[in-house]
Amino acid sequence: MKKLMIAGGLLVVATMGLYAQKSASFTLDADKGTEVIPKEIYGQFAEHLGSCIYGGLWVGEDSDIPNTNGYRTDVLNALKELKVPVLRWPGGCFADEYHWMDGIGPKENRPKMVNNNWGGTIEDNSFGTHEFLNLCEMIGCEPYISGNVGSGTVEELAKWVEYMTSEGDSPMARLRRQNGRDKAWKVKYLGVGNESWGCGGSMRPEYYSDLYRRYSTYCRNYDDNRLFKIASGASDYDYNWTKVLMDRVGGRMDGLSLHYYTVSGWDGSKGSATRFDTDDYYWTLGKCREIEDVIEKHIAIMDEKDPKNRVALMLDEWGTWWDVEPGTNPGHLYQQNTLRDAFVASLSLDIFHKYTRRLKMANIAQIVNVLQSMILTQGDKMVLTPTYYVFRMYNVHQDATYLPIEVKCEVAKLEGERNHDRELPMLSASASKNAQGVVHVSLSNVDAEERQVVTIDLANMEGKQVTGEILTSDKLTDHNSFERPDQVKVVPFNGAKLKKNVLTVDLPAKSIVTLEIK
Ligand code: AHR
Repeated sequence: MKKLMIAGGLLVVATMGLYAQKSASFTLDADKGTEVIPKEIYGQFAEHLGSCIYGGLWVGEDSDIPNTNGYRTDVLNALKELKVPVLRWPGGCFADEYHWMDGIGPKENRPKMVNNNWGGTIEDNSFGTHEFLNLCEMIGCEPYISGNVGSGTVEELAKWVEYMTSEGDSPMARLRRQNGRDKAWKVKYLGVGNESWGCGGSMRPEYYSDLYRRYSTYCRNYDDNRLFKIASGASDYDYNWTKVLMDRVGGRMDGLSLHYYTVSGWDGSKGSATRFDTDDYYWTLGKCREIEDVIEKHIAIMDEKDPKNRVALMLDEWGTWWDVEPGTNPGHLYQQNTLRDAFVASLSLDIFHKYTRRLKMANIAQIVNVLQSMILTQGDKMVLTPTYYVFRMYNVHQDATYLPIEVKCEVAKLEGERNHDRELPMLSASASKNAQGVVHVSLSNVDAEERQVVTIDLANMEGKQVTGEILTSDKLTDHNSFERPDQVKVVPFNGAKLKKNVLTVDLPAKSIVTLEIK
């Protein structure tokens, strides 16, 4: 790995060891912000997949595991603390085989189905529309319903919307009342299909565009509920999908989705979540940062076709995807989560903050026990992952004004075929100012070995007090297991010193810090 130095916007090659001390700097002008970071950038995703729903969120009222109306109490409390703004459900691929009417009414009458996408597990439909929407109310988040286009019907999706949101004396509202819920729920986000190019129906974008137009026509706004309709979007580098959808659907959609995973080799091994070396770590961060280029290119197409910026980009699946943990069902996508995953979270969020003019939502995959999850459960035990801690440290940026910064730091040139000449800045950062005028700065020292001193010029800001939190650990492979649930955790950070309007931050190697400046 060669290291380069960015100085005044110029890329200068430097050899390692030239610097007595690694340093980085930027200016932070608390009056420069214009865009608000929508809290929905911190969205989550829960699919009927492995033990995300059953065992992870829901255990049922009769379970020995402590629960509140069937929801795990430990998980509920952890999610409340996280400030989850929006939760996408029931898939993913599952959504396009899900028939919502199987998941309402008395549980003993609900039919079973085979979860064909995810290990052929038998799904008993005990967690359905009521259980999901009530969960959203309990944790205080917006529901995001992903509708079945692949194997469903227009009528089925139209009736689902009516069932959830109609206040009146309509047939579906009556059915909802019979099932114990008088008042309609508020449902804003409605996905019209998922990955319609793949598990959602293997469609061409031209055909899907027409289907979107047809399905969305019958998804009505009942009473004062206003739907925000989201078309199934592209995977990664499929810019043609975005082009066709923008041309053929245009303003009929409120949002267009995009999926991007930090994953290697869809056909072969994706690599272990916990056994990796430093090169693998840098590869991961390079691949994760490539999302910036992907977002820019999709946005460029949207800008051309929609100069008024009406259609939002919704990154409704993202995160790391590793081999499943040894001995677990390959169809259940259960993976551990190390300090490396925490960096994927912090670097990704730093990037998302920059594009919120168009990017209005992002949903990490997934909330519990699947892929890059916040929480892992086993029986009655629960651990919070390093990724959870990043989301908790970063939730101060939700709905705050984004403060643009230009970081000057060393940049590594990642060598080797798999890295595609990617460059990796050794410092990632973002900053925001909340409604009370409090400024928060998040800093990630991605260097695996060396500490880094960051000098922040606070411009005209009269900062008086700085406090902080840090997430780090001895090894990048460290993670929280059921035996050692606190191996990676957040602790107070005292490495920031304020002198006049200059803040000097001494960041340990491989650490993530959030500072509060008052
Ligand atoms: O998150 C797991 C799966 O990844 C989702 O079901 C699907 O939409 C994507 O391919």
